[in-house]
Amino acid sequence: MTPADPVSPKTPPAAKLWGGRFAEGTDALVEAFSESVSFDQRLWRQDIAGSTAHARMLGKVGVLKAADVEAIVDGLAQIRSEIESGKFEWQLALEDVHMNIESRLTAMIGDAGKRLHTARSRNDQVATDLRLYVRDAIDELVITIGVLAEVLLDLAEREADTIMPGFTHMQIAQPVTFGHHMLAWREQVLRDRARLLDCRRRANVLPLGSAALAGTVYPIDRHFVAEQLGFDSVSENSLDAVSDRDFAIEFVSAAALAMVHLSRWSEELILWCTPMFGFVKLPDRFCTGSSIMPQKKNPDVPELVRGKTGRVVGDLNALLVLMKGQPLAYNRDNQEDKPPLFDAHDTLSASLRLFAAMLPNVTVERATCRSAAFKGYSTATDLADYLVKRGLPFRDAHHAVGSAVGHAVKKGCDLSELSLDELRGFSALIEADVFDVLTLDGSVNARNHWGGTAPAQVRAAIARARSRG
Ligand code: ARG
Repeated sequence: MTPADPVSPKTPPAAKLWGGRFAEGTDALVEAFSESVSFDQRLWRQDIAGSTAHARMLGKVGVLKAADVEAIVDGLAQIRSEIESGKFEWQLALEDVHMNIESRLTAMIGDAGKRLHTARSRNDQVATDLRLYVRDAIDELVITIGVLAEVLLDLAEREADTIMPGFTHMQIAQPVTFGHHMLAWREQVLRDRARLLDCRRRANVLPLGSAALAGTVYPIDRHFVAEQLGFDSVSENSLDAVSDRDFAIEFVSAAALAMVHLSRWSEELILWCTPMFGFVKLPDRFCTGSSIMPQKKNPDVPELVRGKTGRVVGDLNALLVLMKGQPLAYNRDNQEDKPPLFDAHDTLSASLRLFAAMLPNVTVERATCRSAAFKGYSTATDLADYLVKRGLPFRDAHHAVGSAVGHAVKKGCDLSELSLDELRGFSALIEADVFDVLTLDGSVNARNHWGGTAPAQVRAAIARARSRG
Protein backbone atom coordinates (compact mmCIF):
# COMPACT_ATOMS: atom_id res chain seq x y z
CA MET A 1 0.00 0.00 0.00
CA THR A 2 1.45 3.38 -1.03
CA PRO A 3 1.12 6.37 1.31
CA ALA A 4 -1.27 7.98 -1.19
CA ASP A 5 -3.63 4.99 -1.09
CA PRO A 6 -6.93 6.19 0.37
CA VAL A 7 -7.75 2.86 2.02
CA SER A 8 -7.74 2.65 5.84
CA PRO A 9 -6.25 5.88 7.14
CA LYS A 10 -6.57 6.13 10.90
CA THR A 11 -8.68 9.09 12.04
CA PRO A 12 -9.37 9.55 15.73
CA PRO A 13 -12.66 7.80 16.68
CA ALA A 14 -13.69 10.73 18.87
CA ALA A 15 -14.19 12.88 15.74
CA LYS A 16 -17.63 11.30 15.21
CA LEU A 17 -20.68 12.31 17.25
CA TRP A 18 -21.52 8.61 17.45
CA GLY A 19 -17.89 7.45 17.87
CA GLY A 20 -18.09 6.21 21.48
CA ARG A 21 -18.18 2.49 20.77
CA PHE A 22 -15.72 2.54 17.87
CA ALA A 23 -12.11 1.50 18.19
CA GLU A 24 -10.93 3.02 14.92
CA GLY A 25 -11.85 5.84 12.60
CA THR A 26 -14.00 5.45 9.52
CA ASP A 27 -12.25 4.24 6.39
CA ALA A 28 -11.79 7.10 3.94
CA LEU A 29 -13.64 5.11 1.28
CA VAL A 30 -16.58 4.62 3.61
CA GLU A 31 -16.55 8.25 4.60
CA ALA A 32 -16.67 9.40 0.98
CA PHE A 33 -19.30 6.79 0.14
CA SER A 34 -21.66 7.45 3.01
CA GLU A 35 -21.55 11.22 3.39
CA SER A 36 -24.67 13.09 2.37
CA VAL A 37 -23.77 16.63 3.39
CA SER A 38 -22.66 17.38 -0.16
CA PHE A 39 -26.34 17.21 -1.17
CA ASP A 40 -28.45 17.32 2.01
CA GLN A 41 -26.96 20.65 3.20
CA ARG A 42 -29.81 21.97 1.12
CA LEU A 43 -32.09 20.99 4.04
CA TRP A 44 -30.46 23.47 6.42
CA ARG A 45 -33.43 25.80 6.74
CA GLN A 46 -35.76 22.92 7.57
CA ASP A 47 -33.19 21.39 9.93
CA ILE A 48 -32.78 24.61 11.89
CA ALA A 49 -36.55 25.13 12.05
CA GLY A 50 -37.07 21.56 13.29
CA SER A 51 -34.32 21.82 15.91
CA THR A 52 -35.59 25.17 17.15
CA ALA A 53 -39.11 23.79 17.62
CA HIS A 54 -37.74 20.64 19.28
CA ALA A 55 -35.62 22.64 21.75
CA ARG A 56 -38.56 24.89 22.66
CA MET A 57 -40.70 21.83 23.26
CA LEU A 58 -38.04 20.24 25.49
CA GLY A 59 -38.00 23.48 27.49
CA LYS A 60 -41.78 23.54 27.76
CA VAL A 61 -41.99 20.00 29.15
CA GLY A 62 -39.08 20.58 31.53
CA VAL A 63 -36.50 18.30 29.92
CA LEU A 64 -34.25 21.26 29.14
CA LYS A 65 -33.61 24.30 31.32
CA ALA A 66 -34.80 27.64 29.98
CA ALA A 67 -31.21 28.92 29.75
CA ASP A 68 -30.20 25.95 27.60
CA VAL A 69 -33.20 26.43 25.32
CA GLU A 70 -32.32 30.08 24.89
CA ALA A 71 -28.68 29.25 24.10
CA ILE A 72 -29.79 26.64 21.55
CA VAL A 73 -32.34 28.89 19.85
CA ASP A 74 -29.90 31.81 19.66
CA GLY A 75 -27.08 29.53 18.50
CA LEU A 76 -29.24 28.10 15.73
CA ALA A 77 -30.19 31.61 14.64
CA GLN A 78 -26.51 32.49 14.45
CA ILE A 79 -25.81 29.37 12.41
CA ARG A 80 -28.59 30.40 10.06
CA SER A 81 -26.87 33.71 9.39
CA GLU A 82 -23.49 31.99 9.01
CA ILE A 83 -24.97 29.71 6.34
CA GLU A 84 -26.81 32.55 4.64
CA SER A 85 -23.66 34.64 4.41
CA GLY A 86 -21.59 31.70 3.15
CA LYS A 87 -19.36 31.63 6.24
CA PHE A 88 -20.45 28.22 7.49
CA GLU A 89 -17.87 25.48 6.95
CA TRP A 90 -19.51 22.28 5.84
CA GLN A 91 -17.45 19.22 6.76
CA LEU A 92 -17.71 15.94 4.89
CA ALA A 93 -16.38 14.09 7.91
CA LEU A 94 -19.51 15.15 9.82
CA GLU A 95 -21.59 13.12 7.37
CA ASP A 96 -24.78 15.06 6.97
CA VAL A 97 -26.53 18.39 7.44
CA HIS A 98 -27.81 17.37 10.87
CA MET A 99 -24.43 16.62 12.41
CA ASN A 100 -22.78 19.60 10.74
CA ILE A 101 -25.25 21.96 12.37
CA GLU A 102 -25.25 20.17 15.71
CA SER A 103 -21.43 20.14 15.87
CA ARG A 104 -21.24 23.83 15.11
CA LEU A 105 -23.87 24.52 17.75
CA THR A 106 -21.87 22.64 20.37
CA ALA A 107 -18.67 24.41 19.33
CA MET A 108 -20.53 27.69 19.86
CA ILE A 109 -22.50 27.09 23.05
CA GLY A 110 -20.92 24.03 24.69
CA ASP A 111 -22.96 21.53 26.72
CA ALA A 112 -26.36 23.04 25.87
CA GLY A 113 -25.65 22.12 22.24
CA LYS A 114 -25.01 18.52 23.26
CA ARG A 115 -28.43 18.41 24.96
CA LEU A 116 -30.36 19.30 21.77
CA HIS A 117 -30.39 15.71 20.55
CA THR A 118 -32.29 14.53 23.67
CA ALA A 119 -35.54 12.71 22.79
CA ARG A 120 -34.90 12.56 19.06
CA SER A 121 -32.88 10.64 16.50
CA ARG A 122 -31.57 11.57 13.10
CA ASN A 123 -34.21 9.19 11.80
CA ASP A 124 -37.16 11.31 12.88
CA GLN A 125 -35.11 14.46 12.32
CA VAL A 126 -34.45 13.75 8.65
CA ALA A 127 -38.04 12.59 8.09
CA THR A 128 -39.19 15.93 9.54
CA ASP A 129 -36.76 17.97 7.45
CA LEU A 130 -37.81 16.18 4.31
CA ARG A 131 -41.52 16.67 4.93
CA LEU A 132 -40.90 20.37 5.54
CA TYR A 133 -38.88 20.49 2.33
CA VAL A 134 -41.60 18.84 0.26
CA ARG A 135 -44.16 21.21 1.75
CA ASP A 136 -42.02 24.26 0.89
CA ALA A 137 -41.37 22.91 -2.61
CA ILE A 138 -45.10 22.43 -3.19
CA ASP A 139 -45.89 25.93 -1.98
CA GLU A 140 -43.33 27.36 -4.39
CA LEU A 141 -44.49 25.26 -7.35
CA VAL A 142 -48.12 26.12 -6.71
CA ILE A 143 -47.27 29.81 -7.09
CA THR A 144 -45.30 29.19 -10.30
CA ILE A 145 -48.10 27.11 -11.77
CA GLY A 146 -50.51 29.93 -10.91
CA VAL A 147 -48.38 32.34 -12.94
CA LEU A 148 -48.21 29.92 -15.88
CA ALA A 149 -51.98 29.34 -15.77
CA GLU A 150 -52.47 33.10 -15.93
CA VAL A 151 -50.10 33.35 -18.92
CA LEU A 152 -52.11 30.67 -20.72
CA LEU A 153 -55.34 32.50 -19.98
CA ASP A 154 -53.97 35.71 -21.51
CA LEU A 155 -52.67 33.85 -24.55
CA ALA A 156 -56.02 32.09 -24.97
CA GLU A 157 -57.77 35.44 -24.87
CA ARG A 158 -55.37 36.94 -27.42
CA GLU A 159 -55.90 33.98 -29.79
CA ALA A 160 -59.57 33.22 -29.07
CA ASP A 161 -60.51 33.80 -32.74
CA THR A 162 -57.42 32.25 -34.30
CA ILE A 163 -58.33 29.16 -36.28
CA MET A 164 -55.89 26.28 -36.57
CA PRO A 165 -56.21 22.62 -37.43
CA GLY A 166 -57.02 20.28 -34.57
CA PHE A 167 -55.34 16.90 -34.96
CA THR A 168 -56.10 13.29 -34.20
CA HIS A 169 -53.52 10.69 -35.19
CA MET A 170 -51.46 13.79 -36.06
CA GLN A 171 -53.72 14.14 -39.13
CA ILE A 172 -55.86 17.23 -39.64
CA ALA A 173 -59.17 16.46 -37.96
CA GLN A 174 -61.38 19.50 -37.37
CA PRO A 175 -60.72 23.21 -37.06
CA VAL A 176 -60.20 24.46 -33.51
CA THR A 177 -59.25 27.80 -32.06
CA PHE A 178 -55.74 28.46 -30.83
CA GLY A 179 -57.25 29.85 -27.65
CA HIS A 180 -59.04 26.57 -27.07
CA HIS A 181 -55.74 24.73 -27.46
CA MET A 182 -54.11 26.98 -24.86
CA LEU A 183 -56.99 26.37 -22.46
CA ALA A 184 -56.42 22.61 -22.92
CA TRP A 185 -52.82 23.06 -21.78
CA ARG A 186 -54.09 25.10 -18.86
CA GLU A 187 -56.41 22.32 -17.69
CA GLN A 188 -53.43 19.96 -17.56
CA VAL A 189 -51.34 22.23 -15.43
CA LEU A 190 -54.26 23.00 -13.11
CA ARG A 191 -54.63 19.27 -12.43
CA ASP A 192 -50.89 19.13 -11.77
CA ARG A 193 -51.36 21.85 -9.17
CA ALA A 194 -54.28 19.99 -7.61
CA ARG A 195 -52.17 16.82 -7.40
CA LEU A 196 -49.38 18.72 -5.64
CA LEU A 197 -51.83 20.22 -3.16
CA ASP A 198 -53.30 16.81 -2.50
CA CYS A 199 -49.82 15.44 -1.87
CA ARG A 200 -49.21 18.34 0.54
CA ARG A 201 -52.01 17.13 2.81
CA ARG A 202 -50.33 13.78 3.38
CA ALA A 203 -46.83 15.26 3.56
CA ASN A 204 -47.80 17.79 6.22
CA VAL A 205 -47.70 15.39 9.16
CA LEU A 206 -45.09 15.63 11.94
CA PRO A 207 -42.79 12.60 12.36
CA LEU A 208 -40.60 14.17 15.07
CA GLY A 209 -41.02 12.38 18.38
CA SER A 210 -40.79 8.97 16.73
CA ALA A 211 -37.10 9.07 17.66
CA ALA A 212 -35.08 6.19 16.18
CA LEU A 213 -38.11 3.96 15.60
CA ALA A 214 -40.04 3.25 18.82
CA GLY A 215 -40.68 6.65 20.33
CA THR A 216 -38.91 8.12 23.34
CA VAL A 217 -38.95 7.85 27.12
CA TYR A 218 -39.20 11.62 27.60
CA PRO A 219 -42.54 13.37 28.26
CA ILE A 220 -42.57 15.08 24.87
CA ASP A 221 -45.35 17.30 23.53
CA ARG A 222 -45.54 16.46 19.86
CA HIS A 223 -48.59 18.62 19.22
CA PHE A 224 -46.69 21.67 20.43
CA VAL A 225 -43.91 20.92 17.92
CA ALA A 226 -46.45 20.36 15.14
CA GLU A 227 -48.07 23.69 15.85
CA GLN A 228 -44.77 25.57 15.79
CA LEU A 229 -43.78 24.01 12.47
CA GLY A 230 -47.19 24.38 10.84
CA PHE A 231 -47.87 20.66 10.54
CA ASP A 232 -51.57 19.77 10.32
CA SER A 233 -51.24 16.66 12.45
CA VAL A 234 -48.88 14.33 14.28
CA SER A 235 -47.91 10.92 12.90
CA GLU A 236 -49.80 7.97 14.42
CA ASN A 237 -47.07 5.36 14.35
CA SER A 238 -43.37 5.81 15.05
CA LEU A 239 -42.18 2.87 12.91
CA ASP A 240 -44.09 4.15 9.90
CA ALA A 241 -43.10 7.78 10.45
CA VAL A 242 -39.34 7.22 10.33
CA SER A 243 -39.38 4.72 7.51
CA ASP A 244 -41.78 5.66 4.76
CA ARG A 245 -40.99 8.09 2.00
CA ASP A 246 -44.29 7.72 0.20
CA PHE A 247 -44.90 11.47 0.48
CA ALA A 248 -41.68 12.08 -1.48
CA ILE A 249 -42.70 9.47 -4.04
CA GLU A 250 -46.09 11.15 -4.42
CA PHE A 251 -44.41 14.50 -4.86
CA VAL A 252 -42.00 13.22 -7.50
CA SER A 253 -44.84 11.36 -9.17
CA ALA A 254 -46.83 14.59 -9.43
CA ALA A 255 -43.68 16.34 -10.68
CA ALA A 256 -43.05 13.64 -13.30
CA LEU A 257 -46.61 13.90 -14.55
CA ALA A 258 -46.36 17.69 -14.72
CA MET A 259 -43.14 17.30 -16.71
CA VAL A 260 -44.89 14.86 -19.05
CA HIS A 261 -47.44 17.60 -19.74
CA LEU A 262 -44.73 20.17 -20.39
CA SER A 263 -42.98 17.64 -22.61
CA ARG A 264 -46.12 17.23 -24.70
CA TRP A 265 -46.43 21.02 -25.06
CA SER A 266 -42.77 21.09 -26.03
CA GLU A 267 -43.32 18.53 -28.74
CA GLU A 268 -46.14 20.64 -30.17
CA LEU A 269 -44.12 23.85 -30.08
CA ILE A 270 -41.18 22.11 -31.75
CA LEU A 271 -43.44 20.93 -34.56
CA TRP A 272 -45.29 24.21 -34.83
CA CYS A 273 -42.14 26.28 -35.26
CA THR A 274 -40.72 24.16 -38.09
CA PRO A 275 -41.20 25.83 -41.50
CA MET A 276 -43.42 22.88 -42.56
CA PHE A 277 -45.97 23.96 -39.94
CA GLY A 278 -45.01 27.58 -39.36
CA PHE A 279 -47.80 28.07 -36.80
CA VAL A 280 -45.64 29.96 -34.30
CA LYS A 281 -42.38 31.84 -33.98
CA LEU A 282 -40.45 31.47 -30.75
CA PRO A 283 -38.69 34.57 -29.45
CA ASP A 284 -35.00 34.69 -30.43
CA ARG A 285 -33.87 34.93 -26.84
CA PHE A 286 -35.37 31.53 -26.12
CA CYS A 287 -33.63 29.86 -29.07
CA THR A 288 -30.07 29.11 -30.05
CA GLY A 289 -28.19 28.84 -33.32
CA SER A 290 -26.02 26.24 -34.97
CA SER A 291 -22.24 26.44 -35.08
CA ILE A 292 -22.20 25.23 -38.68
CA MET A 293 -25.57 26.08 -40.28
CA PRO A 294 -25.98 29.85 -40.28
CA GLN A 295 -29.71 29.74 -41.02
CA LYS A 296 -30.63 27.66 -37.94
CA LYS A 297 -32.79 28.87 -35.07
CA ASN A 298 -33.34 25.93 -32.78
CA PRO A 299 -36.10 25.49 -30.19
CA ASP A 300 -33.68 24.34 -27.48
CA VAL A 301 -35.88 25.24 -24.53
CA PRO A 302 -38.77 22.96 -25.45
CA GLU A 303 -36.31 20.29 -26.59
CA LEU A 304 -34.56 20.40 -23.23
CA VAL A 305 -37.83 20.33 -21.32
CA ARG A 306 -38.77 17.23 -23.33
CA GLY A 307 -35.35 15.73 -22.61
CA LYS A 308 -35.33 16.59 -18.91
CA THR A 309 -38.72 14.93 -18.55
CA GLY A 310 -36.88 11.65 -19.00
CA ARG A 311 -34.72 12.48 -15.99
CA VAL A 312 -37.68 13.29 -13.76
CA VAL A 313 -39.45 10.09 -14.77
CA GLY A 314 -36.16 8.41 -13.81
CA ASP A 315 -36.23 10.20 -10.44
CA LEU A 316 -39.63 8.67 -9.75
CA ASN A 317 -38.37 5.26 -10.73
CA ALA A 318 -35.33 5.68 -8.47
CA LEU A 319 -37.52 6.45 -5.46
CA LEU A 320 -39.96 3.61 -6.09
CA VAL A 321 -37.15 1.10 -6.40
CA LEU A 322 -35.36 2.62 -3.40
CA MET A 323 -38.41 1.91 -1.26
CA LYS A 324 -39.58 -1.45 -2.52
CA GLY A 325 -37.26 -3.78 -0.62
CA GLN A 326 -37.15 -1.98 2.71
CA PRO A 327 -38.33 -3.66 5.90
CA LEU A 328 -39.48 -1.44 8.77
CA ALA A 329 -38.18 0.83 10.08
CA TYR A 330 -35.46 3.31 8.99
CA ASN A 331 -32.73 2.04 6.66
CA ARG A 332 -29.79 4.01 5.40
CA ASP A 333 -31.06 3.41 1.87
CA ASN A 334 -33.34 6.34 2.55
CA GLN A 335 -30.43 8.74 2.42
CA GLU A 336 -30.58 8.19 -1.33
CA ASP A 337 -34.05 9.74 -1.50
CA LYS A 338 -32.68 13.27 -1.66
CA PRO A 339 -30.90 13.60 -5.03
CA PRO A 340 -33.94 12.41 -7.04
CA LEU A 341 -36.30 14.52 -4.94
CA PHE A 342 -34.22 17.69 -5.34
CA ASP A 343 -33.64 17.02 -9.02
CA ALA A 344 -37.35 16.57 -9.72
CA HIS A 345 -38.16 19.77 -7.85
CA ASP A 346 -35.44 21.84 -9.56
CA THR A 347 -36.22 20.54 -13.03
CA LEU A 348 -39.96 21.10 -12.77
CA SER A 349 -39.53 24.51 -11.21
CA ALA A 350 -37.13 25.68 -13.95
CA SER A 351 -39.26 24.23 -16.74
CA LEU A 352 -42.44 25.91 -15.46
CA ARG A 353 -40.64 29.24 -15.16
CA LEU A 354 -39.27 28.98 -18.68
CA PHE A 355 -42.69 28.26 -20.13
CA ALA A 356 -44.22 31.14 -18.20
CA ALA A 357 -41.53 33.48 -19.54
CA MET A 358 -41.52 32.19 -23.12
CA LEU A 359 -45.22 31.75 -23.95
CA PRO A 360 -46.31 35.41 -23.76
CA ASN A 361 -43.60 36.17 -26.35
CA VAL A 362 -44.58 33.48 -28.83
CA THR A 363 -45.85 34.92 -32.12
CA VAL A 364 -48.84 33.04 -33.50
CA GLU A 365 -48.83 33.06 -37.33
CA ARG A 366 -52.58 33.37 -37.69
CA ALA A 367 -52.78 33.23 -41.50
CA THR A 368 -50.60 30.10 -41.63
CA CYS A 369 -52.66 28.39 -38.93
CA ARG A 370 -55.82 29.20 -40.81
CA SER A 371 -54.63 27.99 -44.20
CA ALA A 372 -53.38 24.74 -42.63
CA ALA A 373 -56.88 24.16 -41.24
CA PHE A 374 -58.36 24.89 -44.66
CA LYS A 375 -56.16 22.29 -46.35
CA GLY A 376 -57.18 19.09 -44.62
CA TYR A 377 -60.95 18.78 -45.30
CA SER A 378 -61.38 19.69 -41.67
CA THR A 379 -65.05 20.65 -42.17
CA ALA A 380 -66.10 17.26 -43.55
CA THR A 381 -67.74 16.33 -40.23
CA ASP A 382 -69.73 19.57 -40.43
CA LEU A 383 -71.13 18.51 -43.80
CA ALA A 384 -72.11 15.12 -42.36
CA ASP A 385 -73.81 16.82 -39.41
CA TYR A 386 -75.62 19.12 -41.88
CA LEU A 387 -77.07 16.06 -43.65
CA VAL A 388 -78.05 14.46 -40.34
CA LYS A 389 -79.98 17.61 -39.42
CA ARG A 390 -81.88 17.11 -42.67
CA GLY A 391 -82.88 13.59 -41.69
CA LEU A 392 -80.14 11.37 -43.11
CA PRO A 393 -78.87 8.65 -40.68
CA PHE A 394 -75.33 9.52 -39.56
CA ARG A 395 -73.74 6.44 -41.18
CA ASP A 396 -75.26 7.33 -44.57
CA ALA A 397 -74.21 10.95 -44.15
CA HIS A 398 -70.66 9.82 -43.31
CA HIS A 399 -70.56 7.73 -46.49
CA ALA A 400 -71.92 10.50 -48.73
CA VAL A 401 -69.41 13.03 -47.40
CA GLY A 402 -66.60 10.49 -47.75
CA SER A 403 -67.43 10.24 -51.46
CA ALA A 404 -67.54 14.03 -51.77
CA VAL A 405 -64.07 14.28 -50.12
CA GLY A 406 -62.75 11.63 -52.51
CA HIS A 407 -64.07 13.72 -55.42
CA ALA A 408 -62.53 16.94 -54.03
CA VAL A 409 -59.18 15.20 -53.48
CA LYS A 410 -59.17 14.16 -57.14
CA LYS A 411 -59.99 17.74 -58.19
CA GLY A 412 -57.39 19.13 -55.79
CA CYS A 413 -59.79 21.51 -54.04
CA ASP A 414 -61.59 21.97 -50.73
CA LEU A 415 -65.19 20.88 -50.13
CA SER A 416 -66.24 24.52 -49.96
CA GLU A 417 -64.80 25.00 -53.44
CA LEU A 418 -67.15 22.42 -55.03
CA SER A 419 -70.25 23.85 -56.73
CA LEU A 420 -73.72 23.33 -55.28
CA ASP A 421 -74.55 21.01 -58.17
CA GLU A 422 -71.46 18.93 -57.59
CA LEU A 423 -72.31 18.64 -53.89
CA ARG A 424 -75.90 17.72 -54.62
CA GLY A 425 -74.54 14.82 -56.66
CA PHE A 426 -73.64 13.23 -53.31
CA SER A 427 -76.94 14.01 -51.59
CA ALA A 428 -80.09 15.72 -52.81
CA LEU A 429 -80.60 17.06 -49.27
CA ILE A 430 -77.82 19.61 -49.81
CA GLU A 431 -78.94 23.17 -50.43
CA ALA A 432 -77.31 26.57 -50.84
CA ASP A 433 -77.01 27.15 -47.07
CA VAL A 434 -74.44 24.31 -46.97
CA PHE A 435 -71.66 26.82 -47.57
CA ASP A 436 -72.27 28.32 -44.12
CA VAL A 437 -71.18 25.10 -42.45
CA LEU A 438 -68.32 24.35 -44.82
CA THR A 439 -66.35 27.43 -43.78
CA LEU A 440 -63.79 27.27 -40.98
CA ASP A 441 -65.55 29.99 -39.00
CA GLY A 442 -68.91 28.28 -39.41
CA SER A 443 -67.36 25.06 -38.15
CA VAL A 444 -65.78 26.44 -34.98
CA ASN A 445 -68.71 28.75 -34.20
CA ALA A 446 -71.07 25.79 -34.39
CA ARG A 447 -69.30 24.02 -31.50
CA ASN A 448 -70.92 26.43 -29.18
CA HIS A 449 -71.39 24.65 -25.86
CA TRP A 450 -69.61 24.44 -22.52
CA GLY A 451 -66.12 23.04 -23.26
CA GLY A 452 -66.44 23.51 -27.05
CA THR A 453 -63.96 25.27 -29.34
CA ALA A 454 -66.17 28.22 -30.48
CA PRO A 455 -64.53 31.59 -29.81
CA ALA A 456 -67.59 32.54 -27.75
CA GLN A 457 -67.03 29.46 -25.56
CA VAL A 458 -63.31 30.16 -25.23
CA ARG A 459 -64.22 33.62 -23.97
CA ALA A 460 -66.83 32.16 -21.63
CA ALA A 461 -64.25 29.70 -20.24
CA ILE A 462 -61.77 32.54 -19.73
CA ALA A 463 -64.44 34.59 -17.95
CA ARG A 464 -65.27 31.62 -15.67
CA ALA A 465 -61.59 31.12 -14.89
CA ARG A 466 -61.14 34.83 -14.11
CA SER A 467 -64.20 34.96 -11.85
CA ARG A 468 -62.90 31.90 -9.95
CA GLY A 469 -59.74 33.96 -9.46
N1 ARG B 1 -28.24 11.27 6.51
C1 ARG B 1 -29.22 10.34 6.95
C2 ARG B 1 -30.37 10.28 5.94
O1 ARG B 1 -30.42 11.07 5.08
C3 ARG B 1 -29.77 10.76 8.27
C4 ARG B 1 -30.28 9.64 9.11
C5 ARG B 1 -29.20 8.72 9.47
N2 ARG B 1 -29.54 7.87 10.54
C6 ARG B 1 -28.72 6.91 10.93
N3 ARG B 1 -29.06 6.23 11.96
N4 ARG B 1 -27.60 6.66 10.33
O2 ARG B 1 -31.20 9.41 5.98
